[in-house]
Amino acid sequence: MTIRAVVRGVGHYLPERVVPNSEFEASLDTSDEWIKARSGIERRHFAAEGETTSDLATHAARAALAHAGLQADDIDAIIVATSTADLTFPSAATMVQANLGMTRGFAFDVQAVCAGFVFALTNANALIISRQAQRVLVIGAETFSRIMDWQDRSTCVLFGDGAGALILEAQQGQGDVSDRGILAADLNSDGRHRDILYVDGGISTQSTGFLRMEGKEVFRHAIEKLAATAHTALEKAGLKDSDVDWIVPHQANIRIIQGTAKKMGLPMDRVVVTVQDHGNTSAASIPLALSVGVARGQIKPNDLLVTEAIGGGLAWGAVVLRW
Ligand code: ACO
Repeated sequence: MTIRAVVRGVGHYLPERVVPNSEFEASLDTSDEWIKARSGIERRHFAAEGETTSDLATHAARAALAHAGLQADDIDAIIVATSTADLTFPSAATMVQANLGMTRGFAFDVQAVCAGFVFALTNANALIISRQAQRVLVIGAETFSRIMDWQDRSTCVLFGDGAGALILEAQQGQGDVSDRGILAADLNSDGRHRDILYVDGGISTQSTGFLRMEGKEVFRHAIEKLAATAHTALEKAGLKDSDVDWIVPHQANIRIIQGTAKKMGLPMDRVVVTVQDHGNTSAASIPLALSVGVARGQIKPNDLLVTEAIGGGLAWGAVVLRW
């Protein structure tokens, strides 16, 4: 028998304030038409003043616990994927742990920018199959509105805030592709590309900084790398691109999402798309899309999913799981 990390529950949280594209027209030389046509984004949510990443993560965690029918103390470990934690330390994950009233287990953050959730899922899977944890709460949570340069129209219209959470549980499988749970993963990074997507501040420079991006270059890497990593992860699982029921991609740009589906030979009606409503929420975008995909009735038990993402680093990867 094989131990599998199987999804037990999912949930999400979006801050109350919805910002349509038209709101940027007052302060920037931009338009709803440009943003929609070049990115697919129509609106995004921004956190309220004083509302932090761990607050968003805690709401999403509570939703996932309720969906799973579990209590906080049923969880052995919390991993939060984020690049926008409340404080330099402690981790957002330990804040969530305290907020949930969880008095056992362990919690830590993972930082791989927009690919963070794929890295966190892979770590959670490793904890479960190595018997370090029976149940892991994996959260992607971000407040990218806090690192936007509001004068830079090429970045500030693209990002949003939000959180999504997934609970993975150890279950016995057969050891073949019919098993529910995580079947394979593929992780990559290449630090030579660190200058095309970064924040120009940080702890060592004693500043917060703003997100800087060479959009065209990131776009080029995304188109080249996302279908390849999804394909590799599927191959590791012993599956083909055509076996996939749902691609659940990182939601950065509809043109990247369409390009990746096309390269994989899959139609858009097998892709969960939320970019129009959330913008790019970095590490939160995949768990948000999973939760919305379930709520819409798109993702159903036993469906074969592939998630894929690329972000600053560059860091990129994919996870294959049967829901
Ligand atoms: N409104 C109007 N015009 C704009 C805006 C705007 N908001 N932003 C840029 N422009 C202009 C540019 O200045 C440029 O004008 P010019 O031709 O006079 O120089 C023109 O529009 C075209 O700009 P491009 O950058 O060539 O536009 P492109 O089609 O490449 O789209 C975009 C830009 C949306 C950023 C795209 O490149 C993209 O999505 N890149 C990838 C982003 C991504 O995937 N990030 C994922 C990782 S994020 C993370 O890890 C944190």
